[in-house]
Amino acid sequence: MKNIILIITLIISQNVFSHISNVDPNSITAVYADLDILKKANVPVLYADQNLNVGYAIITGKMEARISALAHEQGRCGNYEALDEIPQNISTVANNFAFMNQIQSKNQNYEMLAKNSIEVAENPLITEALKNLKPDNIKATVTYLSAFPTRFNKGNTPNLHVDDFSEKIKALVATAAYPVTVDLISHNKTPQKSIRVTIKGSTKPDEYVILGGHLDSISGGGFGGGSKLAPGADDNASGSASLLEALRILITQAQPQRTVEFFWYAGEESGLLGSAEIAASYKAQSKNVISVLQLDMTMFPGDGVFRITSINDFTSAWLRDYLKAINTTYLNVEILDDKCGYGCSDHASWFRNGYPTLMPTEAKFKSIFKYIHTDKDVISSVMNFDHALVFSKIALVMAMDLGNSSQKEVLF
Ligand code: BES
Ligand code: ZN
Repeated sequence: MKNIILIITLIISQNVFSHISNVDPNSITAVYADLDILKKANVPVLYADQNLNVGYAIITGKMEARISALAHEQGRCGNYEALDEIPQNISTVANNFAFMNQIQSKNQNYEMLAKNSIEVAENPLITEALKNLKPDNIKATVTYLSAFPTRFNKGNTPNLHVDDFSEKIKALVATAAYPVTVDLISHNKTPQKSIRVTIKGSTKPDEYVILGGHLDSISGGGFGGGSKLAPGADDNASGSASLLEALRILITQAQPQRTVEFFWYAGEESGLLGSAEIAASYKAQSKNVISVLQLDMTMFPGDGVFRITSINDFTSAWLRDYLKAINTTYLNVEILDDKCGYGCSDHASWFRNGYPTLMPTEAKFKSIFKYIHTDKDVISSVMNFDHALVFSKIALVMAMDLGNSSQKEVLF
């Protein structure tokens, strides 16, 4: 159950995770953090929830450095989450923790009652479709995306690659036998746009199966990243390319019953900016989102080729079980379990808005590609496009299987 406690650790919308160590020592930040880490770092805890093992504190830059050092000792990047602003009232914090406890107990009940109860029957149409996915196409897309000097959302040309890539997607989906729409989504917190592809469901258009990844890149930990080369090949041209390859085959298949949407998000590297706005807007419109897949880093086989990792925090027990079921039926890879320890990618935006999420990634947290966020995140012989293809398979199976079923998350 400890894992569930961590899953729900930090769930408040619009927060920005920060683990950059060269912080201003005089800064003041409100954070939610692991209680044990706060105690070890001698930080005064202003509100504690023993059940979640999470504390609320206002920390100085010096305290932040102590927390980061302790987290790194445990092989983590951060283990705390900075809030956008200091809450006006401690009751806001108490309400947030009450909401976290509510979701946690639902997930705990699910884990106790329904674990491993999912089976996915083989559909020969899906088996055949999977054979058409090609690793060379992923390589070509990663080559193309990582050739942009940067895809940074705060650079001088934040939409250069967005405009060009969306034109490629438009040309691709024009070949579909049914209408597929491509739109660019503008955001409030970044000038960069997200790309959305919508395949409207034939019989259940109000039920959404969502597949996404971030298209932006960063270099130098966010400081002056706009002027540096940020090829972002593994992080995350790879996930973006795995998605595009799944889309290429999906549009050759019968129109799904549920609406299937693909997203290439803006500004993930500056704090999940694009996905935070999109997920909040779907919630505000009461959209019935059945599942959200996040693909972030797919081509570096840090634990071995065909040995992938399912991220266990900010994701749903139901979809993690579903991944194991489709693995048995279609993928036949080894699936390890691990946590980021914080909301490390866009799935966290959807999870915070109450939607079921899944995040399979290339390797365990400690084994992922070391040169992300640098100009060395490029294609080389250590990358493996058969490994990246596993993630295209996951996306395609989710689109064709969940897209044509009545399965959904049932929390008790
Ligand atoms: N690709 C990373 C996240 C990641 C980490 C995926 C480990 C798989 C395994 C992502 O682009 C990233 O850099 N996220 C930020 C956090 C974000 C909220 C700014 C990070 O981890 O520092
Ligand atoms: Zn990143």
